[in-house]
Amino acid sequence: MKRIVLFSLIVIIGSISLNSCRQSSKNKEMVKKENFGVFKGKDVFLFTLTNKNGNVVKLTSFGARITWIEVPDRSGRKENITFGYDTFEGMINGDPYFGSVVGRYANRIAKGKFTLDGTEYTLPVNDGDNTLHGGPEGWHSVVWDAEIPENADVPTVRFTYQSPDMEAGFPGNMNVEATYTWTDNNEIVIDYKCVTDKKTVLNITNHAYFNLHGAGNRDILDHEVTINADRFVPVDSGLIPTGELRPVAGTPFDFTSPRNVGERINEDYDQLVIGGGYDHTFVLDSDREYDARVFDPVSGRVLEVLSDQPGVQFYSGNFLDSSQKGHGGKPYIHRSGLCLETGHYPDSPNHPDFPSTTLNPGETFTSQTVYRFSVE
Ligand code: BGC
Repeated sequence: MKRIVLFSLIVIIGSISLNSCRQSSKNKEMVKKENFGVFKGKDVFLFTLTNKNGNVVKLTSFGARITWIEVPDRSGRKENITFGYDTFEGMINGDPYFGSVVGRYANRIAKGKFTLDGTEYTLPVNDGDNTLHGGPEGWHSVVWDAEIPENADVPTVRFTYQSPDMEAGFPGNMNVEATYTWTDNNEIVIDYKCVTDKKTVLNITNHAYFNLHGAGNRDILDHEVTINADRFVPVDSGLIPTGELRPVAGTPFDFTSPRNVGERINEDYDQLVIGGGYDHTFVLDSDREYDARVFDPVSGRVLEVLSDQPGVQFYSGNFLDSSQKGHGGKPYIHRSGLCLETGHYPDSPNHPDFPSTTLNPGETFTSQTVYRFSVE
């Protein structure tokens, strides 16, 4: 009897460890890791994640960037639909934000100044008088540590970075994590986690550009966009919020039902003129199935964006001018990519009535953004 019990125990333990071994090696099989380059003496890696459908997402530890998303159109033809570069040299000499994690403060802080508990902090400015996307040395431009978690059962890569106190002018040592999961439902799930040891501000996002025709092929003006927002955040000529939250009803900013990007983009409407197109945060409704949806009638590709954040920055690629040449040397022409950057409103540290972007020691900031791809 004793022997039988012992034998069964060995079989059970054996099969448990075999299973966990299979699982642990599974993520390693689904995620290929390669050397991509070296930056300031630190190795940079490229990760290729292949899901059950054979669809591929590529990430790099430089800026924790998404650099390739290959998904099928309605006839099954696969194409990369995000901006990026084939080589590390191309990446460091190219646009700093394509696909990157942006921090510590995504979008603008007016005049690079904000005050916390009576202390004024000054950041380097890199966009006229203002600080954009964490300044010139933001999280898009550093090498993150990367790990392929053993227990994941779909392709997953976790990037971590220790941002020192006063880095790029921001107070507090901050530990940041961005975990990318590429699910079998063709969703990129990004889980952010941040902790600080000093009171500070934080607005983290991902800055992927999308063109559902295929990146580098043509503009996105025929993409049909829906944004679940009744209000948006008007800006001044420096693209700094004026403080107003304006209803979208009756304006070219009403995307509560699907509208082509190009349909109203050139209208003589103050905010379109100032932004050179759409470059605004939309105030997300609290009860929403998704934040935004993009449909390309030609390929049938659909992108849905889901998050738990109070806003989404809809940027219609107004500053693209063909000088940026990405994968395959293709030029990214004016308005050939759009961004849907989930997060807080720009310049919130200087607008006490906007949702707070303050992070205190002892608090853990967590947030999730999903980019879900399908066809229709
Ligand atoms: C901003 C644009 C800016 C772009 C840079 C967007 O998030 O809203 O104004 O030019 O990032 O890549």
